[in-house]
Amino acid sequence: MKKLFILFAAVAFFFALGTGLEAQEKKILIAYYSLTNNTKNVALEIQRQTGGDLFQIETVATYPDDYEGLLQVVEKERNDNARPELKAKVDNIESYDVIFIGYPAWFSDLPPALYTFLESYDLTGKTIAPFCTHGTAPGDQDATIKRLQPNATVLETLKISGNTVKEDPENAPKQPVSDWLSKIGVK
Ligand SMILES: Cc1cc2nc3c(=O)[nH]c(=O)nc-3n(C[C@H](O)[C@H](O)[C@H](O)COP(=O)(O)O)c2cc1C
Repeated sequence: MKKLFILFAAVAFFFALGTGLEAQEKKILIAYYSLTNNTKNVALEIQRQTGGDLFQIETVATYPDDYEGLLQVVEKERNDNARPELKAKVDNIESYDVIFIGYPAWFSDLPPALYTFLESYDLTGKTIAPFCTHGTAPGDQDATIKRLQPNATVLETLKISGNTVKEDPENAPKQPVSDWLSKIGVK
């Protein structure tokens, strides 16, 4: 009877251990910057498919509504190496394992707000999964992200045409996001 009890206790112990390990899921943050909602809609789809927490990166100052005015302000920021002030910080970023970072391609580069964001945290040991929406010249921002966060693992970037997202915000990102998540092993 005693042996039976010990056997039962051992089985219960290993079962509990197994469930505990399975419960150690990766904690996911989806941080994105988006001026005209294309990147936001990709972020929302990533949220639907991963269940991660969403964080919108927003600048304190707003950009001009007209396109020419916007381009002029952004060009000046780029020339000045500006780091526009952001409205809020992620206050528990250390609790996340995987950080999705979304942005629109601006001058085939990161928007200035992304420089501010990436320079505001030490993401040592974290996994960064970048995603980008773009027009006809997406550029390659991976090297910049790696330079700003040298001790993070930076996964392959998902690049989606902004026009495709704009035409069908709900459906266009579904399959590309699903394929990409499987490819980078975050699903
Ligand atoms: C200031 C500015 C610069 C841009 N530069 C580029 C570029 O260099 N290459 C590109 O493919 N698209 C460029 N675009 C287009 C955006 O990347 C594209 O429309 C994106 O989907 C917008 O995302 P959002 O709606 O999340 O802001 C630019 C847009 C703006 C406003």
